[in-house]
Amino acid sequence: MATKTDFQQWAAAQQQRIEAQLQAVLPSADVAPQRLHEAMRYAATGGGKRVRPLLAFAAGEITGADVSRVAIAGAAVELIHAYSLVHDDLPCMDDDVLRRGKPTCHVEFDQATALLVGDALHSLAFQLVSEYRLTDEAVVQLEMIKLLALAAGSRGMAGGQAIDLAAVGANLSLPELEFMHIHKTGALIRAATLMGARCGSPLDERALGKLDHFAKCIGLAFQVVDDVLDIEATTATLGKTAGKDARQNKPTYVSLLGIAESRKLAAELREDALAALEVFGERARRLRELADFIVLRKF
Ligand code: IPE
Ligand code: IPE
Ligand code: MG
Ligand code: MG
Ligand code: MG
Repeated sequence: MATKTDFQQWAAAQQQRIEAQLQAVLPSADVAPQRLHEAMRYAATGGGKRVRPLLAFAAGEITGADVSRVAIAGAAVELIHAYSLVHDDLPCMDDDVLRRGKPTCHVEFDQATALLVGDALHSLAFQLVSEYRLTDEAVVQLEMIKLLALAAGSRGMAGGQAIDLAAVGANLSLPELEFMHIHKTGALIRAATLMGARCGSPLDERALGKLDHFAKCIGLAFQVVDDVLDIEATTATLGKTAGKDARQNKPTYVSLLGIAESRKLAAELREDALAALEVFGERARRLRELADFIVLRKF
C-alpha cells in the first residue's frame, strides 16, 4: 500500500476523532427506543468523508481553537449533514437505495424510522452546541448556534433541497442553479468552516470575510464536483448510485454546462478560494489541502 501523505494522515486522525465524538454523543442502541437509536447510529457513524468536520478542524487551526471544542462543533454539523442524507434518500425525495456503501436508512429500517432519524439527529446537533462549551464567550456561542440554525433551515440546506425538488425536469438558468447549490450544500459547509474558526480566538472582520469567501467558494465547488462525479464515477467508488441525476431529470452543472466546463468552474472556484486564504499564511495549510481534496477527489 502506498504510504499516506502528511495530509492523508492528518485527515485520517481527524476522521477518527469525529467518529469517536459521534459514538460518544449518540444514544446507545441498548437504550429505548432501541430501534430508533440503532438507526441513528447506522446513519451517522462508520462512513462518509467527514468533509464538514475536517473543514471545522482546519479552520480551527487558523484561530488556535481547542480541538475538543471543534470536535463538538464538527460533530453537530455532521449530524445535520447525516440527517440531510437520510431524508434526501427517501422515496419522496431522491429515492435512493445505497448510501455510504450500505442500504439507505429507510431500506435497512423503514420510512417512518428514517424520518424520525432525521428529526432526532437534527435535535441532537442543537443539543450538542448548547450543552458543551465551544468558546469562552457565551455571546459568541449563541451566534454559532444561530449560524447553524440558519445554515440548516429554509434559508439554507432545507431551502436548497426544496428548490432541488421543485427543479426536477425544469431548465434552470446558471444563477438559479448556483442559488440552489449554494443553499442545499454550500450553507452547511460554510457553517462548518466558520464554526470551527469561531471556537478559537476572534478574527477581525476582514479576516472573517476572507474565511467566509473561502467557505462559499469551496461549498459551491463541492456540489459542482458532486454533480460531475454522479456522471463520471462508479457506484462502487461513490458508495451511492451513480448516474441518477440524469435518470431523475435533475438540473445539475453537468446538464447545464457539460463535464469539461463544470470541471473548469470547480478549478476556478478553487483558485478563488485559495486566494482568499493568503492573509492567513501557513496557518491555513490544512484548509488549502482540503480545497484541493474537495475539487480533485474521485469519490
Ligand atoms: C453528499 O455529501 C451530499 C452532498 C451534499 C453533495 P458528501 O459527499 O459529503 O457525503 P459523505 O458524507 O461523504 O457520505
Ligand atoms: C444532496 O444533494 C444535498 C443534501 C442536502 C443532502 P444530492 O442529492 O446531489 O446528494 P447525493 O448525490 O444524493 O449524495
Ligand atoms: Mg438530492
Ligand atoms: Mg441525492
Ligand atoms: Mg448528487
